[in-house]
Amino acid sequence: MRRIVLAISGASGTPYAKRLFDILLESGAKIDVVLSKTGERIWSDETGESLSYFERPNSALHKDNNLFVNIASGSSHWDSIVVIPASMGTIGRIANGISDSLITRSADVALKERRKLILVSRETPLSLIHLENMTKITRAGGIILPASPAFYQKPQTIDDMVDFVVGRVLDQLGINQTIVPEWDYSPE
Ligand SMILES: Cc1cc2nc3c(=O)[nH]c(=O)nc-3n(C[C@H](O)[C@H](O)[C@H](O)COP(=O)(O)O)c2cc1C
Repeated sequence: MRRIVLAISGASGTPYAKRLFDILLESGAKIDVVLSKTGERIWSDETGESLSYFERPNSALHKDNNLFVNIASGSSHWDSIVVIPASMGTIGRIANGISDSLITRSADVALKERRKLILVSRETPLSLIHLENMTKITRAGGIILPASPAFYQKPQTIDDMVDFVVGRVLDQLGINQTIVPEWDYSPE
């Protein structure tokens, strides 16, 4: 069974996390969910859901300020972490090895254990500091996957645009997905 850490930091874009959570549960994965303090507020503002949303079988909800949780250790057998959405603050701390919360520590574990770290960044425009932090993480093996939905699939709804980003995350996780069809160019 896949064990995946789903982290929600304080950036806009929590509907992406909601959709990813649902699909991961459907896929049979075991999920460890962590929200930063600001992430909690933005989650309820943007999705209208409370934290009880994560109270499901195969899902464990942890507090970001509690490092006494199994996923904070390299000895625990989870395989990937997705920070979705990933704020520039969280990205900056990860890039600089500041493992002062469960989210940043778990990301640090992923890098040192050579596990998959996917950061769904959300900020625009980007400063040189943001770009350098993302470059540093990329060099260390992490994947920066900006929340930037495309239009070539001709999205009709916001859900379609959410699915585009979540589909790309699932591709990176190696989980079969059908929510985003492969692009197939057929001239009219
Ligand atoms: C409503 C709201 C929306 C925000 N959106 C973003 C965002 O999209 N991207 C970003 O980098 N920071 C955003 N921020 C700022 C971060 O939440 C802030 O820098 C915070 O300290 C990040 O810490 P965290 O990642 O531990 O939650 C937002 C803050 C608020 C209150």
